[in-house]
Amino acid sequence: MGLLTLLAKRFIAGLTVHDAMRAVERLNRNGILATIDHLGENVHSREEATAAADEYIRILDEIDKTGVQSNVSVKLTMMGLEIDSYFCAENVARIVKKAKELNNFVRIDMEGSAVTQVTLDVFERLHAEFDNVGIVIQSYLYRSEADVRRLNDDKINIRLCKGAYKEPREIAYPQKEAVNESYLKLARLILTEGGHVGLATHDDKMIEPLMAFIKERNIPTSSYEWQMLYGIRRARQEQLAAAGETVRVYVPYGSDWVGYFSRRMMERKENFFFAFRHFFKG
Ligand code: FDA
Repeated sequence: MGLLTLLAKRFIAGLTVHDAMRAVERLNRNGILATIDHLGENVHSREEATAAADEYIRILDEIDKTGVQSNVSVKLTMMGLEIDSYFCAENVARIVKKAKELNNFVRIDMEGSAVTQVTLDVFERLHAEFDNVGIVIQSYLYRSEADVRRLNDDKINIRLCKGAYKEPREIAYPQKEAVNESYLKLARLILTEGGHVGLATHDDKMIEPLMAFIKERNIPTSSYEWQMLYGIRRARQEQLAAAGETVRVYVPYGSDWVGYFSRRMMERKENFFFAFRHFFKG
């Protein structure tokens, strides 16, 4: 195993679906829910995209068989979005249909701005047929307020995050403060006017004021959950769960981890030191 692979272990559950299941079981024992992500993106052959959807169907079967508390998160570029959006929608529909049969849920992750609109289009097509599918909105994009208002009209299940891709200032807030401000505004909009929201952040500057807002407005715990990434702020995840909050952790696994790992490293140089510390501690 190379040095990078060892570093990545801090943020990735392992290489196989069984590694992911073991990680989910550990989280569940601490009262934490999960969403499983089979790592991969930018697939350019129909065979690979079909195989990727087949793997998700196996994950859903495995979740059902083991009884762990987890749904799944899917990236559309892994499902053939860059080949043909209709092919991609059909491919993902197989996963959503399987999840529906098993009483489970599929989250469509949001990727870079080149695919924002087409991701929303595919999502809307899936949502017209299935109610067990949700989407992600990134607070760094200027367009997101309009997207949230439209999605709120249909009470769509939204995961709200800040956004992890490098975007130009023409379409995304370049300053962290503006991204944070947008996050708080969009979160409050969904909490008061929308459907269920997954508040995906590790940032206490987001968590504390939103917690206060939720209390002040008497928003029921069934309307929202906190979401964090595997290996990041584990103590905070457990503390929130112990306080009676619903917490869901994003559990990525698989050999195609470079894109995911690089985004974690770009977000925060401390993540790099974390990974190192974990590596040296063993
Ligand atoms: P941010 O990086 O802004 O840091 C703010 C503060 O949070 C820090 O100062 C620190 O206090 C705390 N913090 C952050 N990282 C920490 C760490 N490692 N250790 C300790 N404290 C830390 N993105 C996307 O574009 N599309 C998607 O579909 C998703 N999906 C997704 C799912 C889930 C469950 C999560 C949590 C995140 C995503 N993301 C995502 C990633 C997201 O957009 C964002 O890049 C990261 O969550 C980082 O933003 P934060 O709000 O967590 O903190």
